[in-house]
Amino acid sequence: MYRLAVYHNCSDMRINLILFGPPGSGKGTQAAKLVEKYGLLHISTGDLFRYEMGNDTPLGQEAKSYIAKGELVPDSVTIGMLRNKVEANPDVPGYIFDGFPRTIPQCEALDALLADMDESISRLIMLDVPDKEIVERILNRGITSGRSDDLDQAIIQNRIDVYKNETTPVFDYYAAKGKSVKVAGVGSIEDIFIRLCSEIDVL
Ligand code: C5P
Ligand code: MG
Repeated sequence: MYRLAVYHNCSDMRINLILFGPPGSGKGTQAAKLVEKYGLLHISTGDLFRYEMGNDTPLGQEAKSYIAKGELVPDSVTIGMLRNKVEANPDVPGYIFDGFPRTIPQCEALDALLADMDESISRLIMLDVPDKEIVERILNRGITSGRSDDLDQAIIQNRIDVYKNETTPVFDYYAAKGKSVKVAGVGSIEDIFIRLCSEIDVL
């Protein structure tokens, strides 16, 4: 009861973050640490797709062909899945969106969804990592991640190209609203985390 009153009446207390950056930039790693510190709900659209694929659901089957090639799943599918997840979890201190939005229509859908809840994005924080390091990190992750899209250099390159061509406009979209910041995504996990926290603690 108290939680409801607090979150519904003081919605500006919520922190809604977009953790942004190329594949392999450390979004998932840092999100886990942010969840621990700030109690936010981590929503990784990549993880949601992998869960659906693991259960061989119709959604998983549809997503699979795109993910296997390192391409984007159509906006309508991704937006619907994201909306379900948010709407199923309204009473949280805020969200960390990881891997979403990846296109301008996804930005617009996210803003509309949050506006319906009297909410908005607090910050988009980009983890800035050089290309060469990204490929190395993803190949390394592929050894243990069980993700076929982490194992093939051509698919990894396609994911990076898709990020550059289709996803970087997301940074500019929120920059135009004064919400985008970049932090260096290289160095130790702890150093990167401290940089992220210093952007969040001023909110
Ligand atoms: O975010 P992550 O790298 O885990 O996403 C894995 C794959 O899931 C992407 O390469 C893409 O094929 C798909 N995806 C997508 N749209 C999103 C998030 C993920 O198409 N918003
Ligand atoms: Mg991830």
